[in-house]
Amino acid sequence: MIENYITDYSYPEGIAFHYLVNNKDYLVPMVTEEPSVIAASSHGASIIAKAGGFVASTSERLMIGQIILENVEDSKKLILEIKELTKNLLSVADRAHPSLKRRGGGARWLKTRILAKDLVAIDIAIDVQEAMGANMINTMLEAVAKKLEEVLNQQVLMSILSNYATECLARTTCKIPFELLSRNGIAGEIIAKKIAQAGRVAQLDTYRAATHNKGIMNGIDAVVMASGNDWRAIESGAHAYAARNGQYRGLSTWKLSGGYLIGELELPLPVGFVGGSIGIVPLVSINQKLMKITSARELESIIVSVGLAQNLAALLALVSEGIQKGHMRLQLKSLVIAAGADATEEDAIVDRMLQEGKRDADSAKKILRDYRKRDKNDRSQLE
Ligand code: MEV
Repeated sequence: MIENYITDYSYPEGIAFHYLVNNKDYLVPMVTEEPSVIAASSHGASIIAKAGGFVASTSERLMIGQIILENVEDSKKLILEIKELTKNLLSVADRAHPSLKRRGGGARWLKTRILAKDLVAIDIAIDVQEAMGANMINTMLEAVAKKLEEVLNQQVLMSILSNYATECLARTTCKIPFELLSRNGIAGEIIAKKIAQAGRVAQLDTYRAATHNKGIMNGIDAVVMASGNDWRAIESGAHAYAARNGQYRGLSTWKLSGGYLIGELELPLPVGFVGGSIGIVPLVSINQKLMKITSARELESIIVSVGLAQNLAALLALVSEGIQKGHMRLQLKSLVIAAGADATEEDAIVDRMLQEGKRDADSAKKILRDYRKRDKNDRSQLE
């Protein structure tokens, strides 16, 4: 799949439980190196499942490809000429990838935008069916670009799909009764108000919005990876969408209404169910079977719901006991593994660190050394 290959660099995969999306139960495979993400995901999903689950939906699955025209002398005239050619250009695009058209997809519409006096963008929307479609789109765009150069004698700067997939959105909502949110003797209503407040802060403050969205992407990326999709494409589209109104904001919103906490998340999710690395990596088809999904839209519905569950779990922890308590054991485990402990030693070293209130790498190494010394002594006494 890549160049200059030397080895495989593997990531752990786990399963998140309790996902009830559009009345269907799902097991969700997640690939991530971050401790606590999968536990938090399952926790958020379990609260939402008790509240009736997620209601998710998807828009049309159209991807946008761009052709950028440069050294434009008269942009208004050029736009009129392109308008007249629209039908022709869309069929040039379709002819560049006839199998897509046969499968019911193809170029759907074309729009122009003036970027500067000398720069015009043509946006072409393409129905890619079940694929993410990057290669198909780029092939189709290059064919259209060539045509434009020939017919209009217009210089093309570049042709490439846009990851700002505003025509391929996924949305999910949940409605949680206050009582499901009570924690450590704190009433659910108080926690719900704090979560709504935390959601508000992410709408107001870019510093918080970035972290709020990072938490959402913890879940989203992990499923995007498990499903063989391009997480950089999803990341860039998500963050562009977060800034769609001119200020970077939280992707999710949390509101109170009549005894319920209502969460909503919407973002571009141009994932594929076929094509690209999906057919090449054997684990991906196993993961599709694990999820029991049959389409890209179903995958989108799961992924956007994972983002919202992840966000709920993070906010719930942040406004109640704080994030560190739940993370501590897993973080210590990472430290202990980094210190060189093997699977038979990990738990004992983590317990000792907790007992001694130690949280740092040097202490992990020292405790491991002492543990091994004692273990060796015990064995020699037995002998
Ligand atoms: C950590 O990976 C993610 C969080 O920071 C998300 C958040 O603050 O909402 C816990």
